[in-house]
Amino acid sequence: MGNLKEINRRRTFAIISHPDAGKTTLTEKLLLYGGAIQVAGAVKSNKIKKTATSDWMEIERQRGISVATSVMGFEYQGSKINILDTPGHQDFQEDTFRTLTAADSVIVVIDVAKGVEPQTEKLVKVCRMRKIPIMVFINKLDRPGKDAFELLDEVEQKLNLKVTPLSWPIGMGADFRGVYNMHFKSLNLFNPGSQVIEESIAFDNLDNPELEEYIGEKATELREDQELATGVYPEFEVEEYLAGDISPVFFGSALNNFGVKELLDVFVQIAPSPTGRETEERFVDPNEDAFSGFVFKIHANMDPNHRDRIAFVRVVSGSFKRNINYLHVRQNRQLKFSSPTAFMAQKKSVIDEVFPGDIVGLHDTGNFKIGDSLTEGEKINFKGMPSFSPELFKYVENADPMRSKQLAKGIDQLMDEGVAQLFKGKHNNRKIIGTVGALQFEVIQYRLEHEYGAKCRFEPINLFKTTWFVSDNEEQLEDFRARKALQIAIDKEGREVFLAESQYSLQMAQSKYSDIEFYFTSEF
Ligand code: G4P
Repeated sequence: MGNLKEINRRRTFAIISHPDAGKTTLTEKLLLYGGAIQVAGAVKSNKIKKTATSDWMEIERQRGISVATSVMGFEYQGSKINILDTPGHQDFQEDTFRTLTAADSVIVVIDVAKGVEPQTEKLVKVCRMRKIPIMVFINKLDRPGKDAFELLDEVEQKLNLKVTPLSWPIGMGADFRGVYNMHFKSLNLFNPGSQVIEESIAFDNLDNPELEEYIGEKATELREDQELATGVYPEFEVEEYLAGDISPVFFGSALNNFGVKELLDVFVQIAPSPTGRETEERFVDPNEDAFSGFVFKIHANMDPNHRDRIAFVRVVSGSFKRNINYLHVRQNRQLKFSSPTAFMAQKKSVIDEVFPGDIVGLHDTGNFKIGDSLTEGEKINFKGMPSFSPELFKYVENADPMRSKQLAKGIDQLMDEGVAQLFKGKHNNRKIIGTVGALQFEVIQYRLEHEYGAKCRFEPINLFKTTWFVSDNEEQLEDFRARKALQIAIDKEGREVFLAESQYSLQMAQSKYSDIEFYFTSEF
């Protein structure tokens, strides 16, 4: 129970957005407030530049850089904040989904001109499924964009979120004058070009004629907007936010460092401290004495001379200490780590002890796979590491018979890292690789060759989707298995999946076998 103070002051969250909405810029400004960096421009963007989409080596290189920015910890007003970085490129979306399992809340960044974009929709859907508390930051108010009411409407419709604004924009684009902070009841005036922390003027009565002195003719508009907004949107209740039922919305401009501090100030006040996690056996409370944690990300070194990896572990309970034996539950084996690293600001440093909500990086030579649990001895397995039904499929064949062992090992390890998913045809044992993006095939081929000395060849397969399936109706299951014998494969965990060749065949199966449930994520 001695960790309560440390637990309560921690905030571990992820920033998600469609590429270019301003995630990197916002992260950087948050780090500036935490004193974690001194100058703007210090955060290497882990963003995979648009021009590089055909150049996956460049993407891997940038992913390499992103090890440093995978987790950024900093102190702010007595809170320890951990920002989990998520890759922007959609081919690496699965990484983002997994990172979300290590976050206790998220901030969604939306571009005021573009509104809600497709990638944001997908990511928020996953957050909603898990009831992760969400805050929304509408960015780039220094540019012309959509009207605030219209945007909030769009957020509600497309993201299926109940929202309530905690700040309100005064003008926009060239006309942008600042925001009215509805939470702290203050006026924050925009001073374009200055990177000075904005001045905040306490202003709890908008009818006060002094408002005109500050924002001129915009005062009438603000009063009208506020009257309408307070009528339309529910009052903000922290409990509802923490339950994932309502999302507070802020407006600002990350580039101009405007609206960022108020977002951060509200965030440290209301965002959840580390929450517990479900295991297959029981719920683990962060306040338990014994250490437990799980691997949510594995990062391989691209350098063939150092084929080591870093496994990122989210501490769930107790505290993780250096040089102590811990149980690797899946392998039922004790492991000790002499140089576990944590990530403060941009620096990676060896730690002696970290607490729930913190992320620790463990040097790994191939023991870990995503989802693995580490404990002081208890045999518990953390749940909730999702696999999603991939979008693209290919058969993978050995192109160098002398190196089949290396190929098998390479494929195994790459799958453990979560690069793609592997299925094995039940009737013919052929290996099928399923990915979210086309780039992964190139990544796999290259890495197999350069890291494992193995060559593979991909062959086309006519496949629309793989779905996991379960049923209590044994008779239907048996009939399904018999009739679809050529279309059933086994995933890496030994679960059966149905290989649907087309949308039509999937629909036919669904309607014919009404007692069988077909799942598109492995978490059911
Ligand atoms: P991402 O990580 O979400 O992909 O976005 P990032 O922060 O890299 O921002 C994307 C672009 O939007 C960047 O411009 C950035 O400077 C700009 N931006 C971010 N916040 C604001 C804002 O509040 N107002 C305006 N006007 N622009 C903003 P870029 O030209 O693509 O990159 P760079 O050359 O400036 O780095």
